[in-house]
Amino acid sequence: MASQPKNVGILAMEIYFPPTCVQQEAMETHDGVSKGKYTIGLGQDCMAFCTEVEDVISMSLTAVTSLLEKYGIDPTQIGRMEVGSETVIDKSKSIKTFLMQIFEECGNTDIEGVDSTNACYGGTAALLNCTNWVESSSWDGRYGLVVCTDSAVYAEGPARPTGGAAAIAMLIGPDAPIAFESKIRASHMSHAYDFYKPNLASEYPVVDGKLSQTCYLMALDSCYNRLCNKYKKLEGKQFSVADADYFVFHSPYNKLVQKSFARLLFNDFLRNASSIDEAAKEKLSPFSSLTGDESYQSRDLEKASQQVAKPFYDEKVQPSTLIPKQVGNMYTASLYAAFASLLHNKHSTLAGQRVIIFSYGSGLTATMFSFRIREGQHPFSLGNIAKVMNVDEKLKSRHEFTPEKFVETMKLMEHRYGAKDIVTSKDTSLLSPGTYYLTEVDSMYRRFYSKKDENTSEGLPHSNGF
Ligand code: ACO
Repeated sequence: MASQPKNVGILAMEIYFPPTCVQQEAMETHDGVSKGKYTIGLGQDCMAFCTEVEDVISMSLTAVTSLLEKYGIDPTQIGRMEVGSETVIDKSKSIKTFLMQIFEECGNTDIEGVDSTNACYGGTAALLNCTNWVESSSWDGRYGLVVCTDSAVYAEGPARPTGGAAAIAMLIGPDAPIAFESKIRASHMSHAYDFYKPNLASEYPVVDGKLSQTCYLMALDSCYNRLCNKYKKLEGKQFSVADADYFVFHSPYNKLVQKSFARLLFNDFLRNASSIDEAAKEKLSPFSSLTGDESYQSRDLEKASQQVAKPFYDEKVQPSTLIPKQVGNMYTASLYAAFASLLHNKHSTLAGQRVIIFSYGSGLTATMFSFRIREGQHPFSLGNIAKVMNVDEKLKSRHEFTPEKFVETMKLMEHRYGAKDIVTSKDTSLLSPGTYYLTEVDSMYRRFYSKKDENTSEGLPHSNGF
């Protein structure tokens, strides 16, 4: 009997985000809000968005083909593919089935898996499904593939600067450099109306911004305390932030990540854990008798715990904030883009370290879990994963739109959402070679895509298309 696969997790990653973006500072001026609201108040630098030639399907086609090509993976080696997304293009046909075009061309239609949807959590559901498959008795020895793809757009108003767009592809298998510590995992799931998309005629969510912040923090507290309890049962000692090298959070905007990490330290304080020294105890003790609800409303507690957390934040969280600050909320891809930032910044020193991951999706679903990072064998080494993602170059080669042009694009996309009989401009001048783009939605709502030729800077419509 074949032995149980060990160290199952992420073998390889690729990230794609649109080359079109708008600076948050320019958006502050354009929207007439006080200077610093988006950049300091939300902690965001820049926001990516899809123009009329890109969508969640084209972005995921780009991310998947790029991953397969750069790691030399034959499409017949994929046995399961799971997609996480909350961007609804079709109420029945999954994004996964669009991606099957890549595999059908190579004669591989034997691939399990469909799409998972629950706000920003779908990517984590996809990742857990794929990992469970590799660990199960039905695993056939091939790789799993997880795809997170979203275009996060909001109506004009306070939520608009918390948009973004990206797709991430992750190859799953045993002996992975990014391996699950499968016993260190806890979830919190309940019913809330904090962010949802009941209007099927619009891409925009209905969002209760303040409630969504509290729901996120409540789910975080619950997951963290459960994870600490499980760790204690397993290891016979208390868990605190000192027991992990890095913390990676789902990032709707950076300020919430700062508040979340501070919240973990407040939880450590309440449990009298070792990460809290005497000075920190003194700062936090005025808040020890607050009820849970009071603690979410207390600005003084927020300030005190952020002060206590600051040195730990710089060391354990800040390295994962690059892409989410630069690209914005990518919904399902946000968390894994934050993890990609950590790999980008720290790949040469990550081996042996523990990374705690917090996934949140409104509505609400949340899981906290742990990765143990290992060296990895070429091509699945940490250094090669960082090299393939090429984050600096992708960020540097973007094109900044003015806020006016961004708003104009949003208007066009509103008009196009759910429409048929559309031929796009096929303008690929801003896209890198190898990028997929939307060419047409025909009279039966069927969508067609092409790939920008690898050997030219010009797009060749239908040159290499689906
Ligand atoms: N300089 C510096 N900071 C400023 C300034 C300024 N000029 N103006 C405001 N701020 C600060 C505020 O004090 C606040 O900081 P705080 O949270 O530490 O108090 C921050 O900027 C934001 O200002 P608010 O007035 O609270 O912002 P508003 O209520 O208008 O919108 C919100 C923020 C609710 C996050 C909105 O953007 C939103 O609804 N986004 C979508 C929902 C979301 O992302 N929720 C998170 C979890 S759910 C998910 O992942 C989708």
